[in-house]
Amino acid sequence: MPDNRLANSVPEPRSPEAAFRTNKSYPAVPVPTPVEDDPTGADQLGLTPEEIEHFRRTGYLIKRGLIPSETFAPFLDLWWQQPPITSARMSPDDPAMWISPGRFWPKDNRWSTARNWMGQGAWPSPEDDRPGANVGDPVGRLPHKLTHTANDVWPWHGIGHDPDFVDATTAHPNVLYMAEALLGGPIKRPRRNRGIYSIFPHGGAGEAESKLGPHMDESMTELQVITYLDDVVPSSGGFTVYPTSPQRLYPTSAQALNWVKTEKSREVLHDILSEVQPIEFTGKAGDVIFCHSLVLHSAGIHEGERVRLAAIQDINRSPSVVICDG
Ligand SMILES: [Fe+2]
Repeated sequence: MPDNRLANSVPEPRSPEAAFRTNKSYPAVPVPTPVEDDPTGADQLGLTPEEIEHFRRTGYLIKRGLIPSETFAPFLDLWWQQPPITSARMSPDDPAMWISPGRFWPKDNRWSTARNWMGQGAWPSPEDDRPGANVGDPVGRLPHKLTHTANDVWPWHGIGHDPDFVDATTAHPNVLYMAEALLGGPIKRPRRNRGIYSIFPHGGAGEAESKLGPHMDESMTELQVITYLDDVVPSSGGFTVYPTSPQRLYPTSAQALNWVKTEKSREVLHDILSEVQPIEFTGKAGDVIFCHSLVLHSAGIHEGERVRLAAIQDINRSPSVVICDG
C-alpha cells in the first residue's frame, strides 16, 4: 500500500542540531552488551540471518573488532596534544588528572553559543559574562567546546574533518561494507564525521550523579554509527540506546522521508522511556554499533575512571544516479 505521507509538503528548515527529547526524567539502569549476547556473526564481516532479524527488530547492531584498534593510535596521540588537554595538564599516565578537567579548561571554550548562533545576536567577547556551557549546549561548534553536566564532555568536532581520521573510521572499508549490507548500496563516501566525543570521569562524592539524557537526533541521516577508540566497560559512558525505538517512532512522523514529529510522536516517546530497557554499548576499541537514524539514544552513564573515547558518525546512501543517453 502506498505511504501517503510521501505526498506531504517539505517541512520548514530547522537547526541541524535539533533533538527530540523530553525534560521529564525516567529512571533507568542500562544493561551492558557482553559479546555472549551478540547475535551469531558479530565478529565477522557481513550479515547473518540472526543479525538481520536483530537489526530489524531492535534498530541496532554491534560488530566486534571491525577496525583494528592500532589504527587509532595516531589520532589518540593527537588527542593528548590538543590545547585544552595540555591546559588541563592531562597526560596518559596520570589518571587523577582525567577527572573533571573542565576545572582547568580554557574559559572561552566553556561558553554556550546557542543564543549567538548563525548571527542571531552579538558574538560575546572574552570579557563578557557567559555562564553558558549549560544553555543551549548542543549548538556549540567551538573546536574545544566543553559541556558540563555531571560529567565533562568534549565533542572534538575538528578531527572529524581530518581525511586520515575519516579513512580510519567512517570510510574504513569494513564500515562501508557493513553500511552497504544494512542500507543497500551505493553508499555515499563519507568526507567528514562528527569527530571524537570524550566523556570524562567525574569526581564522585559531592558531584551530581551521572544520568541519561535520552533523545533522538533530528538529523537527515540514515545510519548513526559509533566506533570505540578505547575499551568501554559497563557504567563508563557507553553509548546507550533504546531498542525498538525507531520502529515505534517512525510511524508517528508526519512525513515518510523526513522526520516530522507529531503529538503521537511525543506520546510514543513517553511510552518508550517508560517501557523499554535501554542498553549501553560496551566493548573494545574497534567495536562499532550501527543504529537506525531514529534510534532513541543517550550519552552513557559514566561512573568509571577512564575517558570514554568514541567517534560519532553518520552514513547515507548516494542519491540515485540517472544516466541520460544523448
Ligand atoms: Fe544524539
